[in-house]
Amino acid sequence: MAGVFQKVAVIGAGTMGNGIAQVFATSGVSVELIDVSAPALEKGLANIAGSLARIVKKGGMEQAAADAATKRIAGSGELARAKDCELVVEAAVEKADVKKRIFAELDKLCAPATILATNTSSISITEIAAATKRADKVIGMHFMNPVPLMKLVEIIRGQETSSETCAKITACTEALGKVPVEANDYPGFVSNRVLMPMINEAVYCLMEGVSTREGIDTVMKLGMNHPMGPLALADLIGLDVCLDILNVLHDGLGDPKYRPCPLLKRYVAAGRLGRKVGKGFYDYPAS
Ligand code: CAA
Repeated sequence: MAGVFQKVAVIGAGTMGNGIAQVFATSGVSVELIDVSAPALEKGLANIAGSLARIVKKGGMEQAAADAATKRIAGSGELARAKDCELVVEAAVEKADVKKRIFAELDKLCAPATILATNTSSISITEIAAATKRADKVIGMHFMNPVPLMKLVEIIRGQETSSETCAKITACTEALGKVPVEANDYPGFVSNRVLMPMINEAVYCLMEGVSTREGIDTVMKLGMNHPMGPLALADLIGLDVCLDILNVLHDGLGDPKYRPCPLLKRYVAAGRLGRKVGKGFYDYPAS
C-alpha cells in the first residue's frame, strides 16, 4: 500500500534520514535516498539493512517484504534525483543555512506540485519556507528516533503552509502507520521544547555531581518509567544535535533557562557525540 505518494526523496542518510527512507519503503513507496557524502550513504544503507534484519528476526516482517523494501530504495549523491518525486523529506544537518540552501535548490529542481517537508527538530518552518517560492507547500514532518519503532510524527505548519499540504502530509503519516500530531511553528515545537530542557538538566546534574550518569538515568527509568534515562537518550539522539536544538531554543525564545550546559558543550567539542561515534556520556564498543 503506497498511500498518498508513490515516489519520495529523502535528503540526508544519517540516523533520521535512513530511518525515514526505511519506513516509506516498507509502506510500498519508492525512495531516492540522497546524501552528498558517499560513506554516509553507505552507512545509512547498512543501517537500513540491519534494522530490517532485526525486524524480520523478531517476526515483525517476512524476509520477502524486507527484500522488496530494500529494492525500493535507490541511493545517490545527486540532489537532482529528487526531480520527479512527489514529496521530498529533508533530514540533513540541523543548521538553518544548510537547510535553506537545500530548499532553494529543491524549489528550482522539483515540479511545482512537489511538497517539500523538513524533518527539522527545532528550526522555523516559516524561515526555511521563505527560501523557496512555494511556502504553501513547505511543512515540518518531524519523525522520532528510532524512526522504524516510534509512532509519533509531529506535523508543523509554517506561516504560509496550506491546509491542502497539511492534509496530504497527515494522510501520508497515517499511511506509514504513524500517528500525526499538529504543532505550531515555535522553536522546538512541542517535542523538543519539553524534552531538551529535561536532557540539559540531567547534564547539569552530572556536571554538579548530583549523581553519577548511571544514577541519573536510573532515577528517570525506575522513578518515572522512562524507557531509557536522559543521558542514554542524549547519546541516542546525538549530543551535537541536542546542543544545536538547545541553541535554537535559547536564541529563539531568549530565555536563559534554555542555555546549554557547559558540560554538554565540552563533550561535543571533544567529539563525544553519542552512539553514532561510539562514545558520548557512555561508551559503545563496536559489536
Ligand atoms: N530498527 C528495528 N528494530 C529496532 C531498532 C531499529 N532501529 N532499535 C531497536 N529495535 C528493536 C530491538 O531489536 C528490540 O527488539 P526485541 O525487543 O524483540 O529484542 C527492541 O526494539 C527493543 O530494543 P532494545 O532491547 O535494544 O532496547 P530498548 O528495549 O531500550 O528499546 C528503544 C529501545 C525503542 C529505543 C527504547 O529505549 C525507547 O523507546 N527509548 C526512547 C526513545 C525516544 O525517546 N525517542 C525519541 C527521541 S527524540 C527524537 O527523536 C526527536 C528529536 O528531535 C531529537
